[in-house]
Amino acid sequence: MLNLNRVLAERIHSINAPTEQSQEAYAEWTPTYEQDLKGEGYCSPEVTVKYVCDVIPDESRASTRVLDIGAGTGLVAKLLRERGFMCMDALDPNDTMLREARKHNLYDNYFLEYITSKPTSIQEGTYDVLTGSGIYATDGHVPLGAIIEMIRLVKKGGFIVLVTRFILLAADGPYEQLEPLMKQLEEEGRWRAIHRDVFPRYYRNYEGIAWVFQKV
Ligand SMILES: C[S@@+](CC[C@H](N)C(=O)[O-])C[C@H]1O[C@@H](n2cnc3c(N)ncnc32)[C@H](O)[C@@H]1O
Repeated sequence: MLNLNRVLAERIHSINAPTEQSQEAYAEWTPTYEQDLKGEGYCSPEVTVKYVCDVIPDESRASTRVLDIGAGTGLVAKLLRERGFMCMDALDPNDTMLREARKHNLYDNYFLEYITSKPTSIQEGTYDVLTGSGIYATDGHVPLGAIIEMIRLVKKGGFIVLVTRFILLAADGPYEQLEPLMKQLEEEGRWRAIHRDVFPRYYRNYEGIAWVFQKV
């Protein structure tokens, strides 16, 4: 048991490494990723889906186009499907994680790419909803400026739902400037904030934070 905990702690540590190492760590972790995080009480996919369902009524779900950023093994899509969503695409640079997601046949398209501040291969204004569950980590993950690209990808009136660990926003932390940037984009009239909620037990005893924005 002790040894298992050590292995998991090392995995979590490794995904905070620079991009190439963190991607290798995800590939190695894929076979036990879902089970390990379940054991840790990881609830980011559930919280993400709860907020999506808050803004998309039952009757619109089947035709709502969703892009799941950092889709990983597809935990968000599994829950969205249970709630009536039928049109979902995945974007993730990790082929091993996406291959796991493919087994469940949940997404229509798989974009094997990073999201950064630069445009992805996807056309502007394609989606009604964009989700990002657990996509921020200390290093080697989604950069701050990627929210510019997220806004480009959703339709006017579309929603962006992001859920992550609260501590990452702390002063001197890797995402210290994330909320100031979010606020600046709101002041520029690019999107408006609908929810910003801090909640307990994102995983273990770490707090989480959920944001919902609507493109203006
Ligand atoms: C902690 S996992 C979260 C997976 C899934 N969303 C969940 O909640 O279980 C983070 C995922 O983000 C992906 N990722 C890392 N950097 C990324 C980037 N710049 N653009 C898109 N995905 C990225 C990783 O490959 C990994 O699959």
